[in-house]
Amino acid sequence: MCGIVGYIGDKNCVPILINGLKRLEYRGYDSAGIGILQDKKSLVVKNKGKVSFLEDRIENLSLNSNIGIAHTRWATHGIPNEQNAHPHTNHDHSIFIIHNGIIENYAVIKKSLLNQGYKFNSETDSEVLVHMIDGFIKNGNDLQKSVQLALNEVEGTYGLAVIYSNEPDKIVAARKGSPLVVGLGDNENFIASDVSAILAHTKQVVYLEDGEVALITKNSFSAKTIYDKEIQKEVHEITMTLEEIDKGGYPHFMLKEIMEQPETVRNSIRGRIVLDHGTVKLGGLIDVVDSLVEKKRIIITACGTSWHSGLVGEYMIEQFCRIPTEVEYASEFRYRNPIVSKDDAIFFVSQSGETADTLAALREAKMKGALVLGICNVVGSSIARETNAGVYTHAGPEIGVASTKAFTSQLVVLALITLLIARRKNLSQVDGKNLAEELLKIPEKIEAILKLNDKIEQIAEKFKDSSNFLYLGRGYNFPVALEGALKLKEISYIHAEGYPAAEMKHGPIALIDENMPAIFIAPKDSTYDKIISNIQEVKARGGKIIAIANEDDDDIDNLVDFSIKIPQTIRMLMPILTVIPLQLLAYHIAVKKGLNVDQPRNLAKSVTVE
Ligand code: M6R
Repeated sequence: MCGIVGYIGDKNCVPILINGLKRLEYRGYDSAGIGILQDKKSLVVKNKGKVSFLEDRIENLSLNSNIGIAHTRWATHGIPNEQNAHPHTNHDHSIFIIHNGIIENYAVIKKSLLNQGYKFNSETDSEVLVHMIDGFIKNGNDLQKSVQLALNEVEGTYGLAVIYSNEPDKIVAARKGSPLVVGLGDNENFIASDVSAILAHTKQVVYLEDGEVALITKNSFSAKTIYDKEIQKEVHEITMTLEEIDKGGYPHFMLKEIMEQPETVRNSIRGRIVLDHGTVKLGGLIDVVDSLVEKKRIIITACGTSWHSGLVGEYMIEQFCRIPTEVEYASEFRYRNPIVSKDDAIFFVSQSGETADTLAALREAKMKGALVLGICNVVGSSIARETNAGVYTHAGPEIGVASTKAFTSQLVVLALITLLIARRKNLSQVDGKNLAEELLKIPEKIEAILKLNDKIEQIAEKFKDSSNFLYLGRGYNFPVALEGALKLKEISYIHAEGYPAAEMKHGPIALIDENMPAIFIAPKDSTYDKIISNIQEVKARGGKIIAIANEDDDDIDNLVDFSIKIPQTIRMLMPILTVIPLQLLAYHIAVKKGLNVDQPRNLAKSVTVE
């Protein structure tokens, strides 16, 4: 999604802004722009396409300024082109603005501004903001007040930053529903939509909350609400390091993140298992665990890959805790007036912690009195802050748009939560201990699977030109089938569907022929024989089959074209292992097709619009 970075201080802001934009590229975007004040005059350069193109364009312009803002745009209103790229300026270019989010009532505001004689240069919703601010400045207000007044009239979401050439020593920034963080330095300050953009310069940050408007100069920071109430803000120290957001020698972030999973899973488990008691300790849930175990129902709400981990969570919680559990798409939950009460606990699962639909669903559930709990990766994110309690996944920054290590860490955290609740209910200490021991063995089993990378790459070579894939799994591995198919679609643009294997005969079997590869997730569990029957059905129709099977399963090789053999674990933890070959297969197919694996077309890392 769109990215924001801003700088005010003693240095030349241009390289700082361009490098900041490069750090934000992973979020997904289609145009980029920069706006600075040079000799107190505004100078805006923007274009469709990559930040590197913007960098080339400004190379010979001798830009030098100590105040500026820059933006990557992910198109919502208006096609990706130079006019629609940010910053947007007012009629005399004295004000320029960058904006993330959507102004929902922009059409009404635009009509009124057109009637007042304002001219528009873009098709965007964002442009109304700069003309509104212009109007309030003309009425005698300063920049911050004008931003406040403008934001009082808009409906929708925003993370924005504005500069005005007549007040050349300040950046005004505001947030509602679209993350924004202020970075504090020595005689310099920063603004960013994501800390990774400014991490090279400072680790001291202030998170803006919804409805807050910040005034940033080179050596001061203050904030007010849009209703002009002063607010005291807390300064946070970022623990993330620059190394964590670099590729670390890998050709793509996605491969690095797949390969990191033994360590990220270890980090998700670390310090949380109390082996002797066969239970876990989750600091984030201590205050609510008594109430959680008494709940009559659990709902897990999320989007995309996080929704898939929620589906695995449903199997885990119902099997071990015997609490009825439902999984909902956040986008559906928020609009269907869900029946929710204080007897429910609702988990909101999100890597970014900023997904607009999940955040809105959380607010709806909270308003209806449910216990709302977060499972988030990004520390200090909106969902983490707005839930009553929660557990961090500790997967570290995930930069590749296709979620990989965040998924396996979510599964680990869901397993830990299951164990916590189950031990308070019916699970014995011995069974709890067995489960915890199995969990502790998962990282080394992932290491073993990652050693199959070359073999999986060879399989990818054989299938890279297929145009459709079916992914089939049962029980705990049905959500893995969905996740495997999503990974392939996202980065290779190949059509893929995930199904519960038994559903195949109710429709998808009609698609099977020699051109339709079917990927079966077939570990040795209670439904193994059934899945072998499904494999036979595909084989009988000439379909090509890849199976994810267990290491000791020699028989399956007589039935399938290719097999990827992985270690065994208990059923509930199997998805943490079975998904890894599917991540690698999608990765290699996309690379072999020459596609941009880390920034697939049309996708954004953090979907902060509806
Ligand atoms: O940050 P979140 O986990 O809330 O994001 C949810 C989805 O947008 C995300 O999982 C998306 O589906 C990924 N591109 C999957 O790889």
